[in-house]
Amino acid sequence: MWSKLLFSALFGIFLAANFEVNDAVLFRFTNFVCKSYNTSAFVFNNCRLKAVSRERVLLNMNGTVLHSVNNVSLHAKIFKKANGFQPWVLEGSVDACRFLRKTYNPFMRIVYNLFKEFSNINHTCPFVGPQIVKDFYLKPELLRLPFPTGDYMLWMQWFFYNRPQFDTNVSFAYVEDLLVQKKEN
Ligand SMILES: *[C@@H]1O[C@H](CO)[C@@H](O)[C@H](O)[C@H]1NC(C)=O
Ligand SMILES: *[C@@H]1O[C@H](CO)[C@@H](O)[C@H](O)[C@H]1NC(C)=O
Ligand SMILES: *[C@@H]1O[C@H](CO)[C@@H](O)[C@H](O)[C@H]1NC(C)=O
Ligand SMILES: *[C@@H]1O[C@H](CO)[C@@H](O)[C@H](O)[C@H]1NC(C)=O
Ligand SMILES: *[C@@H]1O[C@H](CO)[C@@H](O)[C@H](O)[C@H]1NC(C)=O
Repeated sequence: MWSKLLFSALFGIFLAANFEVNDAVLFRFTNFVCKSYNTSAFVFNNCRLKAVSRERVLLNMNGTVLHSVNNVSLHAKIFKKANGFQPWVLEGSVDACRFLRKTYNPFMRIVYNLFKEFSNINHTCPFVGPQIVKDFYLKPELLRLPFPTGDYMLWMQWFFYNRPQFDTNVSFAYVEDLLVQKKEN
């Protein structure tokens, strides 16, 4: 109870601080790895990053769901790089069909709001056919993640009917306060 209140308070302060220093974050993709563990259910046609400037890296993904699927879940875990990737605080699972009907998970809602305009994965189940993420990049002004500066990896493991089908692993660099950095230069 108390830890929950404390967390809410800290998160509130973080949000307030972040609104004042609106563009004081840098977020850049550094790696993207996709792999299907069941190519009779899901195949990747494309999965890559494209750097268009020093600050902007676009993420593209094109996969195909081969048979209509009505039961999809996501297990996500964030690792922070420190002598290799160490497990960090955030880990959780969501029922993707339920989530897409009603975005009930606050952390996933942040992630989903960041990418939905770049993707056709913006409807609820069933899923079949092409699953596209096109030229996705992070708008720093949308970013409200309570992360310390560092290199991270987000492991997303996707399940159909509770069986693991494919992974999408995204690595990124996050710098929380560019203004401070600029002042130092
Ligand atoms: C994604 O990351 C996890 C955790 O490090 C690893 O076990 C898994 O093999 C990775 N998947 C791919 C496709 O690299
Ligand atoms: C792989 O996908 C096929 C087609 O959807 C499905 O019938 C089968 O159960 C899946 N296998 C595993 C191990 O998930
Ligand atoms: C996705 O890949 C498929 C198979 O290669 C291709 O036919 C389709 O045009 C691609 N879609 C997009 C939006 O790139
Ligand atoms: C979902 O994405 C498609 C393709 O990008 C777009 O045409 C459609 O309007 C989007 N639907 C919603 C509900 O956002
Ligand atoms: C998804 O499928 C699994 C395995 O068949 C089942 O245990 C689970 O209840 C299903 N979830 C939903 C929300 O239907």
